[in-house]
Amino acid sequence: MYLREKTVVVIDVLRASTTVTAALYNGAKEIIPVATVESAMKIVGNLYGDVRLLGGERNGKMIEGFNLGNSPLEYTEERVFGKAIVYSTTNGSLAMVKARYAKVMVVASFVNLSAVAAFVEDVTGSRNEEESDIIILCAGRNGFYSLEDSVCAGMLIEKLSARKPALTSECGDAGIVSLTMFKRHSRSLLKMLKNSEHGKYLSAIGYGDDLKFCAAVDSLPVVPQLLGNVVKLKKDGDSSKGSFS
Ligand code: MLT
Repeated sequence: MYLREKTVVVIDVLRASTTVTAALYNGAKEIIPVATVESAMKIVGNLYGDVRLLGGERNGKMIEGFNLGNSPLEYTEERVFGKAIVYSTTNGSLAMVKARYAKVMVVASFVNLSAVAAFVEDVTGSRNEEESDIIILCAGRNGFYSLEDSVCAGMLIEKLSARKPALTSECGDAGIVSLTMFKRHSRSLLKMLKNSEHGKYLSAIGYGDDLKFCAAVDSLPVVPQLLGNVVKLKKDGDSSKGSFS
C-alpha cells in the first residue's frame, strides 16, 4: 500500500478539495468522506440530532435525499457551522478514503495551496529521508487525468521546491508534467478551469460560478487534515492516527 506511512496531499480542485476547505473554513465541525451513497446513509443514520448533514454529488448534481450538493458556494457558515458532514463525491471523497492509512493526509486545492505547502514543509522538514516522502494524490476524473488537478499539483511542487530545489529532480515524470502545466497556466487559472473537461461540464450544468471560486488562490488559508476518521482543521492536542469505518 504505497500511501501507508507517507505524507499524502489529496487534490480535487473541481470541486471536492475546494468544497471541503470552504466547509471547514465556514465552521463545519468535521467532514466524513465516504466512497458510496449507501455508506453515507448508514453513517448518517448512526449520528444523532441535527448536527449532521449529507453532502456530495453524482454527475455534478446533488444526490437525492442529501442536504447539500457539491458547490462550495452552498457550504456557507449559515448552513454548515458546527455540523458534521457525511460526504460522498465521484472522485474526491474516494481519493480521501484511499489515503486513509497515510501518516499525514491533507486536502489541497488552489484556495488553500500556500497554507498546505507551509504545513507539508513543516511536517516533512523534521523527518528522515525515508519518512519525508510526499505523495500528491490527484483525484482525476473517473480514473482519467484531469488538467486542473495536475496544474494544482505543479503549483504545490513549485512552492515546495522553492525551499528544496532538489525536489524538482525527485518528483518523477508525473511531477515534471504537472510543473510544466502549472508554468503554462499560472497566469490564467480561471481560463484553464473554464477550458478543462470538468470545468466545461460544470458550466454546462449551471455551476459556472464555482469555477471563479475554485480559482481564487489562497482565499481560504486553512489546512483540512485527516484526524482519526474525519477530516477537520487541526487544533492543538488533536492526534492524527485513526481508521475509517
Ligand atoms: C468529484 O469528487 O468527483 C468532484 O468533486 C465532482 C464535482 O464536484 O463535480
